[in-house]
Amino acid sequence: MNVYDSNRMAVMLENMGLVKTQNQRDADVVIFNTCHIREKAAEKVFSDLGRAYLIKQERLENGKDTIIGVTGCVVQAEDKEILKRAPYVDFALGPLRYFRLKEVVEAIFNEREKQLLDTQFSAVSKFDFLPENKSESGCSYLAIQEGCNNFCTYCVVPYTRGVEVSRPVEDVLNEAKRLVQTGSLELNLLGQNVNSYHGEDASGKERNLAYLLNKIAEIDGLQRIRYTTSYPADVDDDLIQCHKNIVKLMPYLHLPIQSGSDAILKKMNRRHTRDDYLRVVEKLKEANPNIGMSSDFIVGFPGETDEDFQQTLDVVNRVKYIQAFSFKYSRRPGTPAAVMDGQIDEKVKKDRLQILQDLLFSYQTKFNLDSIGKVMPVLFENKGRHKGQLVGRTPYMQNLHAEVDNSFLNKIVEVRVTDASTNSLSGEVI
Ligand code: 5AD
Ligand code: SF4
Repeated sequence: MNVYDSNRMAVMLENMGLVKTQNQRDADVVIFNTCHIREKAAEKVFSDLGRAYLIKQERLENGKDTIIGVTGCVVQAEDKEILKRAPYVDFALGPLRYFRLKEVVEAIFNEREKQLLDTQFSAVSKFDFLPENKSESGCSYLAIQEGCNNFCTYCVVPYTRGVEVSRPVEDVLNEAKRLVQTGSLELNLLGQNVNSYHGEDASGKERNLAYLLNKIAEIDGLQRIRYTTSYPADVDDDLIQCHKNIVKLMPYLHLPIQSGSDAILKKMNRRHTRDDYLRVVEKLKEANPNIGMSSDFIVGFPGETDEDFQQTLDVVNRVKYIQAFSFKYSRRPGTPAAVMDGQIDEKVKKDRLQILQDLLFSYQTKFNLDSIGKVMPVLFENKGRHKGQLVGRTPYMQNLHAEVDNSFLNKIVEVRVTDASTNSLSGEVI
């Protein structure tokens, strides 16, 4: 979602006549779009800001000023802290307020405002004010929903991104069509809780994600659809059927379980048990036997025993994820879990994370190795590190490198996989 938001901000600035720089020293405006999900991410912004301030001072010596802005969830959660620790910041906008960017940058530039902070949770949706989205590559994000009402006890999102808002069906379809017309072959529908989507159609009727996916699949020229991130309790049968019936829907689903222990899931305030989750995975695999699963995991949640942790490993052994993201529990101020008894020692968290990641990587590596010799459609999205190399994605989100010229960029091409490691594949175009 932050990548999506950053791209929208870049378009707003480009519409004002600004151009992207490659080097921060050349930039008249520097904006840090921030994440507050774990402490490490939140702390990073303060060191980045410190560096930006040094560059600002260097530039001042050459008679050039720099506007420094901060946007995103750290602003929402730590507005006072930012102004205290980085008083030189010119503006700070919460994640639902960045649609004001043009007006705010102009006000600072023209010295109408000295410093501006806006963290309102407005009644209006940010989506109503965003500039038209154009495709920048063969694969685009499309935000269809924002915010979350789930209040998992460890998570800051409901406090930083606010309550769930779904964009109307027509708005999403118009944006999707525009993205496809301007070159997108793949759309990744985004939302913090994307499968609780309930946008209104033109007649005012609420529609679910399955309806939207079917509509989007009708767009000519679009070849691949993904959606992320889903909440297990909100996967309904309509959505499961989409994995059977919509050919364009990729056979890969990121469905976070967080923990395999019912006791911990309860403390996390997740609205599903371990069995509920496994049943959903089973139904998805019935709908599409080729589906590959991915998940997020948190280890060391308050009160997590060795037995609870074993339950998480057991889920991994059952589902055999082809990819996953795993984190040590991070205590976030203002969330219920931060003040729960039984906070886990850092060393224990570290050890559990290592054990979990070793197991996850073994499945991921096996899946990648099993891909060798297969032919897969790959959407080449970026240039590789070496000249003459492109990097793309398989239907399963695996990164694939191939020695091909730039004419293959932003195209979907059949590739034979020749080599594999834990994190990527190599292949040759056939
Ligand atoms: N500590 C560790 N991981 C967290 N996540 C969210 N909040 C926390 C936290 N306090 C993880 C969850 C979520 C992902 C986006 O970040 O696994 O799915
Ligand atoms: Fe956070 Fe996801 Fe839980 Fe919402 S569902 S509170 S975004 S972890």
